[in-house]
Amino acid sequence: MTTKKKTSIAVIPGDGIGPEISREAVKVASQAAERESATLEYEWFDWGCDYYLTHGRMMPDDILDILAGFDAIFLGCVGDAAKVPDHISLSLLLTIRKGFDQYVNLRPIYLYEGVPTALAKAVPGMIDLVVVRENVEGEYAQVGGRFKTGTAEEVAIQTGVFTRKGTERVMRYAFELSRKRGKLGNENGFTGMVTNCSKSNALNYSMVFWDDIYDEVSKDYPDIKKDFALVDALTMWFVKNPEYFDVVVASNLFGDIITDLGAMLQGGMGFAAGGNVNPEKVYPSMFEPIHGSAPKYTGKNVINPIASFEAMRMLLEHVGLQRAAFSLQEAIRTVLKEGRARTRDMGGDAHTTDVGDAVVAAMT
Ligand code: IPM
Ligand code: MN
Repeated sequence: MTTKKKTSIAVIPGDGIGPEISREAVKVASQAAERESATLEYEWFDWGCDYYLTHGRMMPDDILDILAGFDAIFLGCVGDAAKVPDHISLSLLLTIRKGFDQYVNLRPIYLYEGVPTALAKAVPGMIDLVVVRENVEGEYAQVGGRFKTGTAEEVAIQTGVFTRKGTERVMRYAFELSRKRGKLGNENGFTGMVTNCSKSNALNYSMVFWDDIYDEVSKDYPDIKKDFALVDALTMWFVKNPEYFDVVVASNLFGDIITDLGAMLQGGMGFAAGGNVNPEKVYPSMFEPIHGSAPKYTGKNVINPIASFEAMRMLLEHVGLQRAAFSLQEAIRTVLKEGRARTRDMGGDAHTTDVGDAVVAAMT
C-alpha cells in the first residue's frame, strides 16, 4: 500500500468574487494532485471585510500562529471599499507578507496561446518574463506619519526603507531564478538576464543604493547578463519589446506598478498570478491572483479563474508537487489554446465554473 503525500493548504477566499474563484482553484488543484497521488487538505478561513464588520478587525490577532503550521496559503482577494477603507482591509495581505517574511513577490508574465491581449503584435511564445518584486520593505515599510493633521500646515511623510540584507537577498533570488530559467540558452555565453528596474536618476539615496547592491550581487553571476532600465522607461519597453525580458528585479512599489502593466500583456488581470514567497521555507508562502475582489460581480459566476489556477500551479510547484503543477499547466494551456471555455474578458460567455470544469476535464 502506498501512502499518499499530504499537503495542507490554508484557503483565505476573502471578499467579493474571492470565494467563487477560490472554489474553482481548489477544484482544479485537487484534480492535479491526483496525478501525483498526493492529497491536498484544505482549511478555509473567513477573514475579510465581512469578518471586519462583525469583529472590528480583518482577522484574528493570532493569525500568524494559526497559519504557521500550513504548507502553503491560497488567498483569493481582499478588499471591498463599500465596507472597509482599502488601507485598513489590505492589512490582511500585508500582515501575512511581512509576518512570514515573504520577501519575494514572484510574478510571471506569460502569454498563453489563444489568449487575446491588448498588444497587437503579440504572438504565442513572445511574452515570457518574470518580475521579482521585493515584498516586505522599500516603499511599503509603512514608516512615516502625519503632522499638524487637519490644519493648513499639515504634513505627511512616507519613508522608503531599503536595507542591505533585504535588497541583497531579493537580487540574489532574481539571479538564481534567471540561471534556473536558462532563457538565453548560451547566447554569447549568457544563460539569462536580470534587468535592474531602478530610478536612481531621481531617487539619489535609495535607488543608488539599490543599484550598488545589484552590481555587487551580479559579480557572483558572470553567466547572467546585466541589464538596467529606469522604471518609467521600462513601462515603455514592456510594451515595445516584451520578448526582450527574462527576469526583472524591482522594488516593492515599482514591482507593483509594472506587474499590472505586465498583466495586460498576458491578456488582462484574469491571467496574472503572484507568489508571496519565503524562499527558505521557514514560513509558509502565499499564492494569489493579483486582481482585486470586483465586488460588483460577486456571485455572478462570470470572473475568469485562470489567474487563480496559475496561483495554484505556483503553489503546487512551491510545495514540491512538480508533476501536479505541470499537469495543471498543460490543462490550462489546452483549454486556452482550444478555446474550450472563454469567459467574458476573453470575448466568450463561459462561466467561472465552466472554466474550472474544462480544466478538470483536460486532466482526466
Ligand atoms: C498587489 C496589490 C497590493 C499591493 C495592494 C492591494 C496593497 O496591488 O498585490 O499588487 O500593492 O501590493
Ligand atoms: Mn498591485
